[in-house]
Amino acid sequence: MRKNIVAGNWKMNKTFSEAEELTDQIFLSLEEKSLKCDVIICPPALYLEMTSDYAEESRLKVGAQNVSEHEKGAYTGEISAAMLASIDMEYCIVGHSERRKYFHETNDQLAQKVNRLLDYGIKPIFCVGEVLEEREKNIHFDIVKKQLEESLFHLNKDEFSNVVLAYEPVWAIGTGKTASPEQAQEMHAYIRKMIAEKYDANTADEVSILYGGSCNPGNAKTLFSQNDVDGGLIGGASLKADDFMAIAESFE
Ligand code: PGA
Repeated sequence: MRKNIVAGNWKMNKTFSEAEELTDQIFLSLEEKSLKCDVIICPPALYLEMTSDYAEESRLKVGAQNVSEHEKGAYTGEISAAMLASIDMEYCIVGHSERRKYFHETNDQLAQKVNRLLDYGIKPIFCVGEVLEEREKNIHFDIVKKQLEESLFHLNKDEFSNVVLAYEPVWAIGTGKTASPEQAQEMHAYIRKMIAEKYDANTADEVSILYGGSCNPGNAKTLFSQNDVDGGLIGGASLKADDFMAIAESFE
């Protein structure tokens, strides 16, 4: 059975004490609730060790927001997969649209990042998704197909089984515009079909595919009730413990 997952992408938000407070609130809430999903938080790199300490004592899981495609060496400001593994990082977001847009990350480069993470036993949360113009031109399926083919489909079946996918239509990120449940389901089913064709039906059935883009406590239930939507990658609404946990409680 594939896992339901709710992952919070904090992006570049929160000071240390605010991050500690939010982690503490999520930690306490997890103690009280019995949830039908795994809960992952992805704070800025500076707070990974602090949040990992919380995770050790709880069901909470932690992921990084980025990793270098290089193994080690003279890459000022970068963080390697080995470094993340050395603080027991379980997940890492790769291919977020903000990294693609502002840091010009290419599909090739993202493939290297995925490789580095898997070398160190860290599970990539790999983001795919089209921009508005691509959807309007009706080429959104082709865009997502290319992202999967160029960054993930070099993996063998065993390697691929460690990947979590997130479909994030770029026009829905931070805009308050959510994909309709039908639009999300349609793309998630397409992604699963591509995986079945590349690997096999079982691999496709086992991979968790999250939806991301203006997901909130009000729309999470309908989105997560779609057959091929296994949870969410949450930006804005992951910065408030109550909203984030309400989303995590949205599985039927
Ligand atoms: P949002 O961000 O929930 O604020 O739209 C989602 C994401 O970027 O992962």
